[in-house]
Amino acid sequence: MSRNKTRKFAQNKLRDNVIEPGKAIYTRIKGNWHTDYFRNKNELVIELGCGKGEYTVGLADRFPDKNFIGVDVKGDRIWVGSGQAIERELKNVAFLRTQMQFLPEFFDDNEADEMWLTFPDPRPKDRDEKRRLTHPRYMNHYRQVLKPDGWFRFKTDNTILFDYTIEIIRNNEVKVKNLEYTKDLYRSHLVEEHYGITTKYEKLFSQQGETIKYMKFQFEYEH
Ligand SMILES: C[S@@+](CC[C@H](N)C(=O)[O-])C[C@H]1O[C@@H](n2cnc3c(N)ncnc32)[C@H](O)[C@@H]1O
Repeated sequence: MSRNKTRKFAQNKLRDNVIEPGKAIYTRIKGNWHTDYFRNKNELVIELGCGKGEYTVGLADRFPDKNFIGVDVKGDRIWVGSGQAIERELKNVAFLRTQMQFLPEFFDDNEADEMWLTFPDPRPKDRDEKRRLTHPRYMNHYRQVLKPDGWFRFKTDNTILFDYTIEIIRNNEVKVKNLEYTKDLYRSHLVEEHYGITTKYEKLFSQQGETIKYMKFQFEYEH
C-alpha cells in the first residue's frame, strides 16, 4: 500500500464519521443509526457508491435537517468526504465502508427514507451484469432497507446501464411505481432535484459531452 493510502487509512481510524471494520460501532450500527450515531430522529438518506462523497456532503450542507450516509468500499475515497464534513462541521454526515452486497447487515428493514445511486461503474460487458449496482440482486437489498414510499434516485452518464435498468423495470424483474426519468437531466424539469451538486464523475462525463441520465421511483411492496 502507498504511504499516502496508509496515512489516510490511519486518519479514518480516528474519525468518528467513518464507520468501518475494526470499530465497535461497525457491528452494532444496524437499526441504531438514529440512537447511536446521529442522536436525532431526522430522515436518513443513503448515497450508494459515494466515492469521494461530494453528493453526501453537498446534500448534508444543503439539508441540515436530514442525515446523510455515504456508502463505498474504498477507504481512500471516503477519506475525502469525511474530511470535508469535518472541516465544514457537518454533524449530519457519516460514511460507511462496505461492499454493497452487505447493505442489509448495516441497516434494518425500512430504516432509510431515501436513496441515491450516483454514477456507479457501468460494467457494460454481459458477463459483468451481476456486478452492476442496479442488478435485481442489489435492487432487492435497496428495497429491503428503504421505507415503503421512500424515493430511489439514480444518476448516470452511461446509456447502456441506464437502458439496462429501465429494461429490468419494464420486465418486472424489479417492481416499482411512480417511475419518472430523463436522458438529459440538465434540460428536464427534473433538474430541480439535482440541487446544483456535481460529483467528480458527473463533471468528468458532462465535460466529455455526455448527457446526464436520471430516474426516480418508489419500490413496489407486496401486500
Ligand atoms: C464511478 S465511481 C462514482 C463515485 C461517485 N458516486 C461520483 O459520482 O463521483 C463508483 C464508486 O462505487 C464504488 N463501488 C463500486 N462497486 C461497489 C460495491 N460493490 N460496493 C461498494 N462500493 C462500490 C467504487 O468504489 C466507486 O467509488
